[in-house]
Amino acid sequence: MKKLLRSAALCLSALLTLTSTPLSAVQAAGQAGKDIYVTGFEDGDVSKFSKRGDDDTSVIKASTSDPHSGDYCMEVTERDQGWNGPSIALKDLCEPGVLYIASAWVKAKWYNSCKLSMQYTDSEGVQHYNNLSKATSQGEWVKIPEIRFCLFDSMKDVSLYIECDDKADLCVDDFKLTEAPFFEIQKDIPSLKDVFADCFKLGGAVTASEIAAKSTQALVLKHYNSLTLGNELKPENMLRQKASQELYEETGDNTAAVVKLNDAARYILDFCRKYKIPVRGHVLVWYSQTPYWFFTEDFTDNGAIVGKETMLKRMENYIKDVFGVLDEEYPDVDFYAWDVVNEAFLDGGTPREPGKYEDYNGSSAWVKIFGDNSFIPPAFEYARKYARKTTKLYYNDFNEYMKVDAMLKLGKELHEKGWLDGLGLQSHLDVTNNSTSDPFPSVQQYAAALDKFCESGLDIQITELDATYAHSVSNGDSLQAKYYKGIMDAIVKNKDKISAVIFWGTTDDQSWRGDRTPLLFDGEYKAKSCFDAIVEGRDYTTGPSTQTTTTTSSSSSSVDEPELKKGDADCNGKVQIADAVLLARYIAEDDVVVTAQGKANAELSGDTSLTSDDLIKLLEFLAGSNKTL
Ligand code: GLA
Repeated sequence: MKKLLRSAALCLSALLTLTSTPLSAVQAAGQAGKDIYVTGFEDGDVSKFSKRGDDDTSVIKASTSDPHSGDYCMEVTERDQGWNGPSIALKDLCEPGVLYIASAWVKAKWYNSCKLSMQYTDSEGVQHYNNLSKATSQGEWVKIPEIRFCLFDSMKDVSLYIECDDKADLCVDDFKLTEAPFFEIQKDIPSLKDVFADCFKLGGAVTASEIAAKSTQALVLKHYNSLTLGNELKPENMLRQKASQELYEETGDNTAAVVKLNDAARYILDFCRKYKIPVRGHVLVWYSQTPYWFFTEDFTDNGAIVGKETMLKRMENYIKDVFGVLDEEYPDVDFYAWDVVNEAFLDGGTPREPGKYEDYNGSSAWVKIFGDNSFIPPAFEYARKYARKTTKLYYNDFNEYMKVDAMLKLGKELHEKGWLDGLGLQSHLDVTNNSTSDPFPSVQQYAAALDKFCESGLDIQITELDATYAHSVSNGDSLQAKYYKGIMDAIVKNKDKISAVIFWGTTDDQSWRGDRTPLLFDGEYKAKSCFDAIVEGRDYTTGPSTQTTTTTSSSSSSVDEPELKKGDADCNGKVQIADAVLLARYIAEDDVVVTAQGKANAELSGDTSLTSDDLIKLLEFLAGSNKTL
């Protein structure tokens, strides 16, 4: 029977190759993106661009003096502030959920950093300004590199604008705003969360703008069963300065800052709620991405810094309120883990320098107030007091292989007190340290540190995994694949001690280290060699995760599967010969993946296992001799 099925599978596969375009070709072509607004200002028209409000002194006009291409460029003179410059409203040009690409050529009169930035208003009426992409001009034309972005529903009055650090005159040419090609994700590859279902949760970090893109949503749903909000739950996004000042004025009590979720956080959390994806909360107490006003007496940017007592109360209120707003708005989202404190140690395990982050990036206002790392235990004590019973609490750090002793000492002490569950190992790795082919850390170094962490009895999570490589190294792609395989093997070896493995991102182009392509998927959403390397050899034919997650109230933990579609074994929404091929190969015990949903779809004979009866029914349907399934 096995032999018969195998030859049926081979015939079907031959038929498939003859009658359809290879999947890879379809994917490579994508669906070409269209031009939204592309101009070299050749008709002398600069009217789509305007200065940024009445206080902006810019004078914007078309100019024929030294354009980047053609006869014209757009010239901006009389700028009085760095933020002055030409702005283009996206209202009638862009819609939410679509991925766009923007770029421009710029020239500043003298040495300057020129930026393509975005401005928008959120539903609380707060203005946001994001630098998207930049280039340094020393009086010559430079290209501001292409940047992808996606809008989400609640963003209002969105515009793109070009600014530079000071008052320098600016010229802009060859401005391009196009729709990115639509990239189908690969449906014929195994799902990472299924591959590692018997080991740990497998997830990623995303920002709202990333996940607003439909392709990213599809990628996340296929591969991840845990999400981390890349920025949206960090103090700088949760804290409200004006409201905190007003509250202080009203009550005379400066121990509570006002905490609220913003639209971007809600956008991701709504997605997690809809698809029942468990969330890793990140992060409560951190020296970075925490506004300095949170540490001052009157919540002003330059006020006097508070003492320990006030800060302890403020910290307690902050932690209580973050958990509080999430409990109120998202009681049905499973926050299975939270990073309570992030990056408190320098390499070697000493505390950070005391200071204002803005003055020296790396210094910590927490250390400035507490004198050392003694703010960490109370942070965990409060977190334990206010967190849900189902939320596990972690200390999270980078270069963890250089801080093993310090992290273990801290972790054990806090675990004994019952305040900490585990350690988060960020794992931002580099395959080609300093453009050599020596990785840092080496797989052996990483594995040795990981073994030590795992021997501690603390729960371990890999929280921000990515592994860069320098593109100047010729075989970087294969070195990266080999390296990832080594790292994943070390992780899987300790699977009983590791409860989650989280990548910091989805696709290379959206990564914070995008120029060194550190992730498993490229900018076209295609699995790279490193994806194949970590999946290869693993038994992933057993279907999706059987892992159960602790959930609160009414939530259930499994990701929504598409609706049952009889015959659709590969879950691509269609019933085709490819489904029969897949089913035949599955029955023949070939090395193929059929997800649990695919198995449910392919079950046609009324029993509970997939057999030749199901295949025959499917073939009869495809041949037209049977009209229903
Ligand atoms: C650190 C932080 C993350 C993130 C990355 C860079 O690792 O823990 O929150 O900011 O840096 O994106």
